Amino acid sequence: MAMEYESHNWVWDVLYYCPRLFSGLMLTAALLGLSTTYFGGIGLFPLSYVWSDSGVFHKNKCEKKHIRVYMDGCFDLMHYGHANALRQAKALGDELVVGVVSDEEIIANKGPPVLPMDERLALVSGLKWVDQVIANAPYAITEQFMNSLFNEHKIDYIIHGDDPCLLPDGSDAYALAKKAGRYKQIKRTEGVSSTDIVGRILSSLKDTEEGGHTTSTLSNGDLGERHRSQRGQISQFLLTSQRIVQFSNGKGPGPNARVVYIDGAFDLFHAGHVEILKKAKQLGDFLLVGIHTDHIVREHRGMPYPVMHVYERSLSVLACRFVDEVIIGAPWEITKDMITTFNISIVVHGTVAESNTLLPGETDPYSVPKRMDIFRFLESPKSLTTSCVAERIVTNHEAYMKRNAKKAEREKQYYEESSEPSLICIIFVTYFCFFPSFMRF
Ligand SMILES: *[C@@H]1O[C@H](CO)[C@@H](O)[C@H](O)[C@H]1NC(C)=O
Repeated sequence: MAMEYESHNWVWDVLYYCPRLFSGLMLTAALLGLSTTYFGGIGLFPLSYVWSDSGVFHKNKCEKKHIRVYMDGCFDLMHYGHANALRQAKALGDELVVGVVSDEEIIANKGPPVLPMDERLALVSGLKWVDQVIANAPYAITEQFMNSLFNEHKIDYIIHGDDPCLLPDGSDAYALAKKAGRYKQIKRTEGVSSTDIVGRILSSLKDTEEGGHTTSTLSNGDLGERHRSQRGQISQFLLTSQRIVQFSNGKGPGPNARVVYIDGAFDLFHAGHVEILKKAKQLGDFLLVGIHTDHIVREHRGMPYPVMHVYERSLSVLACRFVDEVIIGAPWEITKDMITTFNISIVVHGTVAESNTLLPGETDPYSVPKRMDIFRFLESPKSLTTSCVAERIVTNHEAYMKRNAKKAEREKQYYEESSEPSLICIIFVTYFCFFPSFMRF
C-alpha cells in the first residue's frame, strides 16, 4: 500500500463536522467548572477516551459525514480519462479509495499489462484526487471483497462508470453493491482508450515505414485535431476551459513562494514522471511545469512522438498532486522573460530523459538559467522513459495478436476435426469458462 492519508485524529474530524456539538460540550465543561485552559492543558486525549468509551460517537451521524468512496480499475497506461473518472468519483464523497487490479488478474482477464503493479500504483497514488490505494484488487468485485471494502476499509459507496460491466456469466458485476444501496454511478469519461493509444503508436510507425512521411495524422497541433487509430476510428479530444478548471487547483504561488520550473514532453505519462515531479516539488513551494508543443516534441524526437497531443499531456500533468500549474505549449528555450514573468527561482531537469536531438543552429535550451546559476540536474529516481513504455506497448500488442491468432487457429482445428454436436458443446463450455478474456475484446 503506497499511501495512507487516513485522518490522524478523529477528534479533529468531529470538531470539524460538528462544531455545534463541540461548543455544546465546551459549555457543559464550563458549567461543570472546567476552564478552557484546563481543557487545553490536558489535551484532547482523555476526552476522546471518555467519548469513545461512552459510545456516543459511534452512533453519531456527524462521523458518518466523512464519506469514503471506492473505485477500481487496471490503470494500465494513465491518461486524462482515468484521471477524470477518479475526479468525478472523489466528488461523490470525502475520501477516495482506489483499487488497483493485480497483475495476475489482468493477465487472466485481458493478457499481460504494459505497466507492472508498482508503476500503476505510483501513477494512481500520484493523482490529486486519490486519498488511499488498495493494491492487488480483484478484477471483478466478489461478495467477499465487497464485504471487506464495507467492513475493513469502511467504504460507503462503490463507484463505477455508466457502462455495463458484466461478469463472465452475464450477470451485473455491481448487482450486490446495488442491492445493498451502496452503489453510485459516474458518467463514462470521453477520451482515449488504451486501445486507441496502441493504435496511434502502431499507425504512426506504419506511416513512417511505408512512405517515410515525416508528418502524419498523429499530431498536427490543431485545435480539435483528429487521431486516426489503427482500427480506423477517429477519436477526438476537445479541451474546454471548464475541464482545465476542474483539473487545476486554482491557486497561484503565495507570497515569498519559491517557484520551481521543469519542462518536457510528458508523453505517455508514467511512473518516472510522477517521481521526478515529486522530487522537483520538494525543491520549492510551487511547481510550474512547461509542456512542450507537439511541434517541438516531433522535431526533437521524431515519429511516433508525441503519442498524446499537448492538451492531453497537459491534463495528465495537471492531474498530478505535485503540480501546481502548467504552461500549455511551453517554448523549447527558457528565456529571461519567462523567468521574470513567472518569478522562477530554480529550473530543473531530470538526469533520465528522452534523448532530444538538437536541431541545426539550436543551442542549449537551458543556457539562460545556467548563466543565472539557477539551473540544476535532478537525479531521476526511475530509469523509465516514454520510449520504454511505447516499446512495451508495441511488444505487448504483438504478443496479444499472436495469442489471438493461435487461439483462432486452435478453434478452427477443433471445428474441422469433429462435427459431433456434443464435442462442440464441450469446446464451447471450456471456451467460455477458461477464456473469459476473449469476451472482453
Ligand atoms: C519571487 O520569488 C521569491 C522567492 O524566490 C520571493 O521571495 C518573492 O516574493 C517573489 N516575488 C513575487 C513578486 O512574488
